[in-house]
Amino acid sequence: MVEFTIGRNIKSKEDKLIIASKRSEITALLNENEQILADAVKKQTAADKIKTYNLGKYTVYVAIRDTKMTPVKWQRFGGDVWKVIKQSREVKMQVIGASAKNLYDFCLGVELASYSFDKYFTKKPLSYYPNLEKVSVVGSKLSSFEGYKAYTSLANCVRYARDLINEPANAVTPQIMADDIKRLEYLGLQVDILDESQMKERGFNLALAVGQGSANRPKIAIVKWKGSAKESKYKIGLVGKGVTFDSGGISIKPAANMGDMKQDMAGAAAMVAAMKSIALQKVAQNVVAIVGLVENMPSGGAYRPGDVLKSMSGQTVEVGNTDAEGRLVLADCLTYIQEEYHPEYVVDMATLTGAIVVALGSTYAGLFSNNNKLSDEIQAAGEYTGERVWKMPMDKEYDKQMDSNIADMKNIGSGRSAGSATAACFLNRFIEKNTKWAHIDIAGVDLSDGSKVLYPKGASGFGVRLINRFIKQIAKEV
Ligand code: BES
Ligand code: ZN
Ligand code: ZN
Repeated sequence: MVEFTIGRNIKSKEDKLIIASKRSEITALLNENEQILADAVKKQTAADKIKTYNLGKYTVYVAIRDTKMTPVKWQRFGGDVWKVIKQSREVKMQVIGASAKNLYDFCLGVELASYSFDKYFTKKPLSYYPNLEKVSVVGSKLSSFEGYKAYTSLANCVRYARDLINEPANAVTPQIMADDIKRLEYLGLQVDILDESQMKERGFNLALAVGQGSANRPKIAIVKWKGSAKESKYKIGLVGKGVTFDSGGISIKPAANMGDMKQDMAGAAAMVAAMKSIALQKVAQNVVAIVGLVENMPSGGAYRPGDVLKSMSGQTVEVGNTDAEGRLVLADCLTYIQEEYHPEYVVDMATLTGAIVVALGSTYAGLFSNNNKLSDEIQAAGEYTGERVWKMPMDKEYDKQMDSNIADMKNIGSGRSAGSATAACFLNRFIEKNTKWAHIDIAGVDLSDGSKVLYPKGASGFGVRLINRFIKQIAKEV
């Protein structure tokens, strides 16, 4: 982790970073010995927007930014710069023409880009690890970095989600994840964990069926944040798919990349981390989240294709494919959150379908909703944070595919067409008339191939900042 503080005197002979939109602004900040650099800086083109000048005992980094910047652009710029400066231990930084908020976004970018999941390496040489510990900001109007707290806490929550998702399934079982979530109570969150017998009692039959083939027994975690002094009701309900490993069950998946299915709890991780973020930021809104934690395994005890299950809602479901398990877990969680809390808004997030990867790749998550205003809010939060969503259709024709010959519905559509939409229509059958509901399918965006600067290879933590922003929009805190 990098520490950001306020420093003084950019002209001292230490590692330093000067950022400006014009080259002419840079030379004024060089000290006498560095004037030799001035000529080189003059020649620095847009192509090498970040350049390293080695002056023997110390290094000067010069970065030229665009003239037009957005929050996301500042973050990405921070990430790009981090890649260049990461081997310095301490850097003095002056960013010309940046507001406090610009600086914070820049630093947030450094924090997001500098994440790595390296706890399982035992033999990496020291040179593998970055050195950067401290960045002191000089020449700004800031007298302290207090305002950055909200940003750094958000970065922490993204890191928390990424860690949970990157951990292999032997390290994050439903029990272990539930224990981890329980620990968030120190922040003033209220966390209830339901074990298998409590789940039985309350009728989580679909979630239980998905988990029944695994030695790692299912759990439900309910996380509550009471941020509002006036209201007692929970206005927002969040639901996350927490399949800690998805082998497909008896309708087993192909071997190639099956290990990636340790990330099938990314929706739950994002929702829980978003709850952590609103607790850290003390957002004045009541929010409740529920995540279904199960492992989908084949075994003598596993649920089968063809089984008919009775959901918490009372509706019956014929299992067409045990690999369409996420929607089963979500369905009971959706029923529960509506019956217990009657939230005005319900948003669920899940690595639900391979079809959304085909449709949208890693550029957008898929957004399905029964309410335009709600989907507009989420889309706006997506554009602001760079965690973007694309509105997808739900239609009676898709819904019809979910009809079953022997039960109220089945858990797969016919064939592979519109697989993400049929999944959304399945979930929609568990939504009450007055609930404003949105479903975000993150199967394409939850893992990064490392090509996006703010998302190092592995878990992206997609959704944490999106949901944080969405909640703050509803709470009118942005
Ligand atoms: N967890 C998968 C979806 C998934 C696929 C997530 C790729 C991330 C990357 C989900 O449980 C699943 O297996 N869905 C099936 C549904 C099908 C059987 C109707 C799918 O998408 O193939
Ligand atoms: Zn599956
Ligand atoms: Zn799954």
